[in-house]
Amino acid sequence: MTAQVITLTSGKGGVGKTTAVANLATALAMDGKRVVCMDGDIGLRNLDVVMGLENRIVYDIVDVIEGRCKLKQAMIRDKKLPEMYLIPAAQTRDKNAVSPSDMMRICNDLKPDFDFVIIDSPAGIERGFRNAIAPADKVLVVTNPEVSAVRDADRVVGILEAEEKGSPLLILNRLNPTLVKNNDMLSAEDVLDLLGIQLLGIVPEDENVVIGSNKGAPVVTDAKSRAGQAFRNIAKRLQGQDVPLMNLESQGGLWSAIQRLTGRK
Ligand SMILES: Nc1ncnc2c1ncn2[C@@H]1O[C@H](COP(=O)(O)OP(=O)(O)OP(=O)(O)O)[C@@H](O)[C@H]1O
Ligand SMILES: [Mg+2]
Repeated sequence: MTAQVITLTSGKGGVGKTTAVANLATALAMDGKRVVCMDGDIGLRNLDVVMGLENRIVYDIVDVIEGRCKLKQAMIRDKKLPEMYLIPAAQTRDKNAVSPSDMMRICNDLKPDFDFVIIDSPAGIERGFRNAIAPADKVLVVTNPEVSAVRDADRVVGILEAEEKGSPLLILNRLNPTLVKNNDMLSAEDVLDLLGIQLLGIVPEDENVVIGSNKGAPVVTDAKSRAGQAFRNIAKRLQGQDVPLMNLESQGGLWSAIQRLTGRK
């Protein structure tokens, strides 16, 4: 087994990176994959809360790097999904406590035992972002259908290409079909045109996401949630399955245009 290392990043803060990491990791583990998530947001950790594991933290990633514990001791096993682990970020330190080579070393140690290592990047394009992308085999850029988020995503895409990390894949999060229909929100087609990268999936705005995060139960575990379905589909695509885009209701023209654009029929 050699894990694929996937980093989620965005430039702009608050677009849904942590939400997407928790949901994709959970969906992959529900599909029987062995998954470990790493919180790369040193000093502002919250992946542990979204995954419902905050009460079980003893050691964190900086403890591993500074030799206070072994890597396995910092890995929290999710009791609900025994094939899923979290390596939490440190809360009382800053991103300078971690270097890109530390991240590469930890990922190399994890790779033989997992199918996926999923890294939650902090916002921005500084040291924390550099740490998060250093070990990535694949980068997913998360954005919202808002001009400022798309502009930051575009900057990140440029950096990734300059760093020879290849072209990232896009997760468009919090799309509201009614606003798009009324021309009050950028459409998925607009965002794809602006960024010029391949679409991995679209996640609708869905209040169940917030409810799930607050309960520490990612929305993918809710069979009825639209956002949950979207994340389950993205997880299948990461496993190489060809899953069609969801039909986000009354979007006939738009959706056929996206399907044409992405080659998904
Ligand atoms: N599809 C969605 N529908 C509704 N709410 C969402 C959706 N995705 C994310 N949210 C909410 O948006 C907020 C920000 O999400 P999240 O913390 O995942 O963003 P982030 O990119 O990790 O932020 P930061 O840059 O601060 O790390 C959270 O309250 C989350 O519950
Ligand atoms: Mg976050």
